[in-house]
Amino acid sequence: MVSNRLVTAIFAAAVISIPTARAHAEADAETLVNALNAVFGKHPGVRAAHTHGICVKGNFVPSTEAPSLTKAPHFNSKTPVGVIGRFSMGGGDPDAPNGQKDNVRGIAMHFDLGKGNNTDLLLISAPVFVAKDPDQFLKLLTAVATKDKDKIGAYFKENPNSTRQAEFLNARPVPASYGTVDYWGVHAFTFTNADGKKQNFKYKALPVGGEVGISDDEAKKKDPDFYRPELKDRLAKGPVQYTLTAILGEDGDPLDDPTALWPEDKRKSVNLGTISITDFEDPKTCDEAIFDPTNVVDGVEGPANDTIFPMRSQAYAVSFSRRQAPQQ
Ligand code: HEM
Repeated sequence: MVSNRLVTAIFAAAVISIPTARAHAEADAETLVNALNAVFGKHPGVRAAHTHGICVKGNFVPSTEAPSLTKAPHFNSKTPVGVIGRFSMGGGDPDAPNGQKDNVRGIAMHFDLGKGNNTDLLLISAPVFVAKDPDQFLKLLTAVATKDKDKIGAYFKENPNSTRQAEFLNARPVPASYGTVDYWGVHAFTFTNADGKKQNFKYKALPVGGEVGISDDEAKKKDPDFYRPELKDRLAKGPVQYTLTAILGEDGDPLDDPTALWPEDKRKSVNLGTISITDFEDPKTCDEAIFDPTNVVDGVEGPANDTIFPMRSQAYAVSFSRRQAPQQ
């Protein structure tokens, strides 16, 4: 049975859908943000997703190999590139517990390109997203919002690709820290180097100190906000560092489906450089702008046929404008 909410969502979207999104006419940015609010509640003045987070700062030092793949300035810089970052828990709960196993951790970053310009990179602690396109994401959110086990079960039965992220997370321990887990860019990007050579790839950041997890029992005993004091202690000892890598795509690797796993262990990986998080930053610095995955720079392209990618930019803009006007 189709829920009233889905009928309402389809109707609302049909009225205001834009022609370029014909193939995904149901799910526009407003509808998706409303659907996120239906699942997680409407919380004035904060993000509709990845609501629980910590603003940080640091720098990025590119590797010597990075220029062979891309002409992008931050991968060719001779001096450390300033980074404003935000760690977060997935979902729209402002109090999302840090010990939740089947939730992603996120790191969003602005790389300072000078003269007021920046480029963004958003990573999560899983190699895949929960939906292959905006319509599927709307269907998932609509099913979850019903809180009806049968409807949710039916959704996952019909959409097995949506289960991959939780399967991945549940097969690993709860990360002990934002600083001890791997992060992926999820989408397939394309680099262009100074000779015009193109290379498809996926971003992955690996903690320099290695992955560290805690048991489910330990996680249950932790304060829901334990990542903040943990990060404070960690930063007091030195920067929290990640090696940013590019997993190189090969012929046939899907470029348009963020639920599709690439066989990482069979793919070449290139070190792009080191991200160092050095300190906390005033939350205002993270909240006064959007971390937008489509904010790329010459030498890096987003996926042309992955319909989630451009939708993110639109949905983040909707969330941003609402959190700037919290009375709405
Ligand atoms: C159509 C699919 C998606 C929708 C509708 C969506 C929605 C949102 C929204 C509304 C926000 C808050 C934006 C703001 O207020 O600034 C957000 C943040 C975020 N999203 Fe998504 N998202 C989608 C897909 C993804 C994917 C595939 C990733 C994987 C990398 C991802 C990672 C993140 C991260 C890391 C943040 C936190 C950014 C920050 O700290 O400001 N999202 N998302």
